[in-house]
Amino acid sequence: MKQKSISIEYKSLQLEELSQEDRDLILKAEEIRDKAYAVYSDFYVGAALLLSSGDIVLGNNQENIAFPSSLCAERVAIFYCKANYPESKIKKIAITAKSIKEAYDEVVTPCGSCRQVISEYERNQKSPIEIILKGENEVLVFKSINDLLPLSFETIVLGHS
Ligand code: THU
Repeated sequence: MKQKSISIEYKSLQLEELSQEDRDLILKAEEIRDKAYAVYSDFYVGAALLLSSGDIVLGNNQENIAFPSSLCAERVAIFYCKANYPESKIKKIAITAKSIKEAYDEVVTPCGSCRQVISEYERNQKSPIEIILKGENEVLVFKSINDLLPLSFETIVLGHS
């Protein structure tokens, strides 16, 4: 038996330490977050993608009375992006959340399904997608989705890297 381990690196920053580009992207994520359709959870999430073309694509969570029909902000943004800009490369994604019911100042980390979706597009485009998670008191920056979804399905089973 071999004991193995995986470690990931990510940055914790204050907003002022980020580049203007990243702060602008976060601002867009916050603006779109507040337009989410989150009538069941009262948990508002916004995602802003920066494409290598410079275009910005936004998404927010869209809920439904048939709960599993709902979709997270990240996938709303990414699927719209890939539907409308299929050749585009995604450089960065900024994600932020707000709860109406109770104070929420943590970063929101993408769910497993969103990580899986981001992971496939990152693999397809052959360049990393930076993940920027904005909380009230800190911003976490991950260089690649691999840091949030190591040992992802396609890497292991299909032999892609
Ligand atoms: N949600 C997102 O949009 N993104 C995440 O990363 C986590 C969760 C949404 C789904 C649902 O509409 C609400 O937040 C509460 O889970």
